Amino acid sequence: MNGQIFEGLSLTEIREINAEMSHYEDKTAVSIEALRIVQKHRRWVSDQCLVAVAELLEMSPAQLEAVATFYNLIYRQPVGKTVIHYCNSVSCWMLGSDQVRERLCRHLNVELGEMSADGEYTILPIVCLGACDHAPVAMVGDELRLDITEDAVNEILGR
Ligand code: FES
Repeated sequence: MNGQIFEGLSLTEIREINAEMSHYEDKTAVSIEALRIVQKHRRWVSDQCLVAVAELLEMSPAQLEAVATFYNLIYRQPVGKTVIHYCNSVSCWMLGSDQVRERLCRHLNVELGEMSADGEYTILPIVCLGACDHAPVAMVGDELRLDITEDAVNEILGR
């Protein structure tokens, strides 16, 4: 059974969040992990889910929203199957991250943060990924891509 309780969370999500909570006395300690669990199942965290998670963790929705806002890998709007985070910090910017972003957006016909029409991709900025000596850099899903050239954009998108 995978019923919906806590006004929007599935039993699977609740079980996984409860399993995380069992390791801590303070339920709020699992705030980020709880949001990540929801996101793993749904790709993003809706307002309804955020309220339900807050209820489960016995914290206010505003407190949990602050956590979600601070942690930029929690998506509060629908995203594509693959999220491309391009680094827009200084080393990558100096070595062409704007051109990479423009090329990605043009190929997918999207603005930053939008989902492509086929539901496959969303492009978002991210701060330094710690690989500045290989700038420009991006995370394509879970994969770190280094030294991205304009040609590599076609390859990243499988085109
Ligand atoms: S500035 Fe892009 S990885 Fe550091």
